[in-house]
Amino acid sequence: MLLLFVVLLLVPKGFIQPCLSVSSQNIGYGYRLVSLEENPDGGGLIGHLLLKKGTSTYGPDIPHLRLFVKHETRNRLRVQITDAENERWEVPYNLIPREESPPLEIPNQKSSGFPFTASEFSGEELVFSYISDPFGFSVKRRSNGETLFNSITEAEDPYASMVFKDQYLEISTSLPKYSSLYGLGENTQPGGIRLQPNDPYTLYTTDVSAINLNTDLYGSHPVYMDLRNRNGETAAHAVLLLNSNGMDVFYRGSSLTYKIIGGIFDFYFLSGPMPLDVIDQYTSLIGRPAPMPYWALGFHQCRWGYHNLSVVEGVVEGYINAQIPLDVMWTDDDHMDARKDFTLSAVNFPRPKLLAFLDKIHSRGMKYVVIVDPGINVNLTYGVYLRGMAQDIFIKYEGEPYLAQVWPGPVYFPDFLNPSGVSWWVDEIARFHKLVPVDGLWIDMNEVSNFCTGKCKIPTTHSCPIPNNPTPWVCCLDCVNITKTRWDDPPYKINASGIQAPIGFKTIAPSAVHYNGVMEYNAHSLYGFSESIATNKALLKLEGKRPFVLSRSSFVGSGAYAAHWTGDNKGTWEDLKYSISTILNFGLFGMPMVGADICGFYPAPTEELCNRWIELGAFYPFSRDHANFASPRQELYQWESVAKSARNALGLRYKLLPYLYTLSYEAHIYGAPLARPVFFSFPNFTASYGLSTQFLLGSSVMVSPVLKQGATSVDAIFPPGTWYNLFDTTKAVISKDDKYVTLNAPLNEINVHLYQNTILPMQRGGMLTKEARTTPFTLIVAFPFRATHSDAKGKVYVDDDERPEMKLVDGEATYVEFYASIEGKSVKVWSEVEMEKFSLDEKLLIEKITVLGLEGIGEGMEIEVDGERVSDLSGVHFTDASSVDLGKLDGRTNRKS
Ligand code: GLC
Repeated sequence: MLLLFVVLLLVPKGFIQPCLSVSSQNIGYGYRLVSLEENPDGGGLIGHLLLKKGTSTYGPDIPHLRLFVKHETRNRLRVQITDAENERWEVPYNLIPREESPPLEIPNQKSSGFPFTASEFSGEELVFSYISDPFGFSVKRRSNGETLFNSITEAEDPYASMVFKDQYLEISTSLPKYSSLYGLGENTQPGGIRLQPNDPYTLYTTDVSAINLNTDLYGSHPVYMDLRNRNGETAAHAVLLLNSNGMDVFYRGSSLTYKIIGGIFDFYFLSGPMPLDVIDQYTSLIGRPAPMPYWALGFHQCRWGYHNLSVVEGVVEGYINAQIPLDVMWTDDDHMDARKDFTLSAVNFPRPKLLAFLDKIHSRGMKYVVIVDPGINVNLTYGVYLRGMAQDIFIKYEGEPYLAQVWPGPVYFPDFLNPSGVSWWVDEIARFHKLVPVDGLWIDMNEVSNFCTGKCKIPTTHSCPIPNNPTPWVCCLDCVNITKTRWDDPPYKINASGIQAPIGFKTIAPSAVHYNGVMEYNAHSLYGFSESIATNKALLKLEGKRPFVLSRSSFVGSGAYAAHWTGDNKGTWEDLKYSISTILNFGLFGMPMVGADICGFYPAPTEELCNRWIELGAFYPFSRDHANFASPRQELYQWESVAKSARNALGLRYKLLPYLYTLSYEAHIYGAPLARPVFFSFPNFTASYGLSTQFLLGSSVMVSPVLKQGATSVDAIFPPGTWYNLFDTTKAVISKDDKYVTLNAPLNEINVHLYQNTILPMQRGGMLTKEARTTPFTLIVAFPFRATHSDAKGKVYVDDDERPEMKLVDGEATYVEFYASIEGKSVKVWSEVEMEKFSLDEKLLIEKITVLGLEGIGEGMEIEVDGERVSDLSGVHFTDASSVDLGKLDGRTNRKS
């Protein structure tokens, strides 16, 4: 009561607007909205909330809050709640450029806006409504009145209403039964892509291997998509809580509760209404996915433990001899001198030999990517360290650089929130590039991972790292007792590392300090994100080419700078399956260039598993085989059966490159993920809402992998329509309902199907993307089976991929849309070129058009291509319907038409 009294004294006279309707006489917990007025500068509403009654758990409540509500675009609503009197930590605007919220008012200043008296504040698509006492708000879809988010509660429970303390924030929303939720990662979800009720989803960037289920993993993405189908009507929306502090999100089916240990409530509601609209709106806010170089869509080979250059050379030879496509060769920390970033081992990777090797693979058209860890070895003979010290760019603890341990032993961590830290990093990458002309960088261990916890010092009694240590991940620094501040030991314990570990466990101490006094406590989950930005910038500056960065840790917005892999998985059938959900989730997070370690990181895949993994992995957006040093070698040519599966699956991938590259263009322009849940194209097909064993590439290529040991068939589900087998277009599935179909899947084969009404651009493929992209095109025109009136569409984007941007610029890129129609016996195929041709485009010929689904090519058939009647049909290939094998449908085997 005393607290409330003090607060009221701080509020200026006339501040409490009598116009607000008080919806109940509730005198319980929570806040009361005491004023709401139009924001005179820049639109929106600004309100003030005063604490009614708080609790003592987790610290005192903040007495006076400010509410800011704005319809920022026709489909985006922002609701921000923060301390009205003191600045609080929020995600920096320079990391995610967005509309600035108005500066905090000085409490005694007279407000200048007009009182807002209505109970609802409408935008074009969304409506914000509220009740004043206790304060709660809801967000509705304007078109149908559906409530999308609702924090309003009648319950007289201290935690039912909103809680806002310095180190503890809580808010809940109720959810209808027909909601399906996706997102809230990074997390390995055994239950598949649709979120299962879980206590809780913890978001806090952590180096916990991806084999841990339902725990906080490497990235933090506090966003979910809510897909609702009610009485056959489908709509999706998304909710982003832009907050970088550690949090637990409790999803209980009928409600969702955020428990956050700092920052502010900064909600963004995106109205959709279709899943692709949601991603478009989300990435327009957080940053569009980075354009990817063409070669990044090729196959990548990596391994921790390519001990010397000859081994690496042998791997390249191995792929060439086995005739398996390989575009990019990687090295882990093996090329380094004593695992120090930006160095070369003079013995194992002598520079002259490495340069000769790079000349050779570069002239073939191959690329080379290496790892870089954030920990800079504390070592007086190491220039990278000395220059970092001279520029004072390391994160500090009690005024000194914070000492940690990673692979090279004692390290300091650069601060990428410090502009000098960024310029030092850019410079170090430029220096390294002069030493080794790498084509991309892999930034790992950036959650940040630390093998020690708390405050450490360099030991005087033993060396660190311990020479030939078989367990280099065990801390060998001396640990000193740390003074536990409120940052190291916050009152609410998130479920860190899945075990309620202290939040400083195996990472930087939360009381360490970044540039400008920013606490690690607040900025923790931004580390990998800020490193991705700096690394992207560094690569861009080198040669002005499109950068390729692969980052393990990520945050909201990371996709604009980097690709991602799902981290340390296991070579097991479960992990093979889980990879699909994680990859689909990253598409939702606006980071669509994503893959999992093919064949598993450790300990050792079986031959059969590796067959199945490359079949699936060939269709990951980012396709890389990677393994731990302790695992046996698992390059795809190590087993003849795996090589055969690889030639088959990667063979198709390389033919699909124009389609994949066009998808990556669409990802960059609209956010549309390359790998998508099936409901993205078929939102009314409710049987696909939880589907996590199949996925779509783009809108119409369905991948149905084998995920079970010993299986030679796969049960797959297809939304209604005709789906042509891309390995053999004379085979198709004609689906009428939501029943599973059993498809043949012998060991070396994966099922990939193309949906009707699509024109798929393909090329001849090859061993390298560079080679494949200059081969002539085939267009596959897929009509519904036996259609007599139908159409099909497709498109292709081409550019030279050296330019950093990926956009339609006259003379530098081409975008062609293809159309086809069938009317009785007349088939027309035509194209519309949106952009002038550019150099590469001259080589782009369409050598073949394959039309699928026709009844037959008998008498009277007329074909027109780009307005010209084709008299000689020998260049046009048709599939006769009578040869289509419908496969097993609804339990019937090989039903023939
Ligand atoms: C981490 C990475 C892994 C890498 C290893 C050594 O465990 O996740 O991919 O091989 O570090 O650098």
